[in-house]
Amino acid sequence: MTCPALPDGFDLTDPDMLQQRVPLPEFAELRRTEPVHWIAQSDNVAGFQDEGYWAVTRHEDVKFVSTHPELFSSMLNTAIIRFNEHIERDAIDAQRLIILNMDPPEHTRVRQIVQRGFTPRSIRALEDTLRARAQGIVQNALAQEGSFDFVTQVACELPLQAIAELIGIPQEDRLKIFEWSNRMISYDDPEYAITEEVGQEAAMEVIAYAMNMAADRKKCPAKDIVTTLVAAENEGNLGSDEFGMFVLALAVAGNETTRNAISHGMHAFLTHPDQWELFKRERPATTAEEIVRWATPVVSFQRTATQDTELGGKKIKQGDRVGIFYSSANHDPDVFENPDTFDITRDPNPHLGFGGGGPHFCLGKSLAVMEINLIFNAIADAMPGLHLTGDPRRLRSAWINGVKELQVSVG
Ligand code: HEM
Repeated sequence: MTCPALPDGFDLTDPDMLQQRVPLPEFAELRRTEPVHWIAQSDNVAGFQDEGYWAVTRHEDVKFVSTHPELFSSMLNTAIIRFNEHIERDAIDAQRLIILNMDPPEHTRVRQIVQRGFTPRSIRALEDTLRARAQGIVQNALAQEGSFDFVTQVACELPLQAIAELIGIPQEDRLKIFEWSNRMISYDDPEYAITEEVGQEAAMEVIAYAMNMAADRKKCPAKDIVTTLVAAENEGNLGSDEFGMFVLALAVAGNETTRNAISHGMHAFLTHPDQWELFKRERPATTAEEIVRWATPVVSFQRTATQDTELGGKKIKQGDRVGIFYSSANHDPDVFENPDTFDITRDPNPHLGFGGGGPHFCLGKSLAVMEINLIFNAIADAMPGLHLTGDPRRLRSAWINGVKELQVSVG
């Protein structure tokens, strides 16, 4: 099954694929010619004999897959298409305890518990603290002379602080979360020289840290998410290993994603000066959603067909892997007018950057939107004349659309 639009050996899970080429021109071709397309993976992923997957590229189909967990399971394989080329089966079994890799009814049970920590009230309660943090981060960056790296000096800090506030991680331990999350996610980028062992070790450290926190809160309850979840554990609802895995999921899901949205957002503003001027003048409430659509920090997730079914005119067999490409859906011209235009007043903006609206829809969306608003407001207030002094350096990854470095100057 070849698509005339694609070169031989084309694989959307190739970590080099996204380098410097977002949105991928191949996505536009696939949406037009064969929106559900079988990609035979060239190198075998250890443990899987069934290499290859369906690439789902249209908005409508990505939404359909996301909202039909009974047809497309998150559990049968991990949610990430190619988590690690050398991942072992037992590591995958541990992954099943992560909320992203669960199906109903397990998923419904865990989600109902953990979302108690994400009520609109608990997120709003963080706003003043995070606003002050955002302003402090920007003031520190202002003190830099000449060119500085926006990613490490600005974009990194707020997502990290937000999760730490939410979970109740003390100040002195916060850097660890950042480091662990980096080690877990950057395995495809040789610059980070991360091995499988280092990634797994980092994951174990996060889990151990979280389980220790849980033990502390059992003895001394506090007003934080850990106490809420541990209470559930006492009621027999949430296993302590599930709790550890949930904190692990937050460290990854809430940190890298928001950081990359902020970095890509800054790059988009500085390469679209009309939009930056508009933002400084009017601060449209629609801005954060357009940044997430434009950046789509999470490129894709994977599902596995639970039965023979049909999608986009293709026969999907039970057990087939299905990659849902948010990056492609977010540039679908059937849904977005001028999809390749960065327009911070876009409204409505039914993008799928936070997921396709199914049971796994991003739990941290309102926190992420708040963080993006807070940081860009702080930047527009304190350093309106920011400009680029170099091209962004991208993370080598097929899963996260990441920026490693973005040189800017205030002058
Ligand atoms: C799930 C994107 C920020 C926590 C997801 C999913 C996406 C996503 C695409 C999967 C949805 C699906 O499968 O339908 C993003 C983006 C963010 C962001 C682009 C920032 C711009 C956050 C933050 C947190 C968070 C700040 C928490 C502090 C989660 C969790 C899940 C999730 C726990 C799993 C939910 C489940 O499986 O039920 N996110 N996310 N995310 N996100 Fe986010």
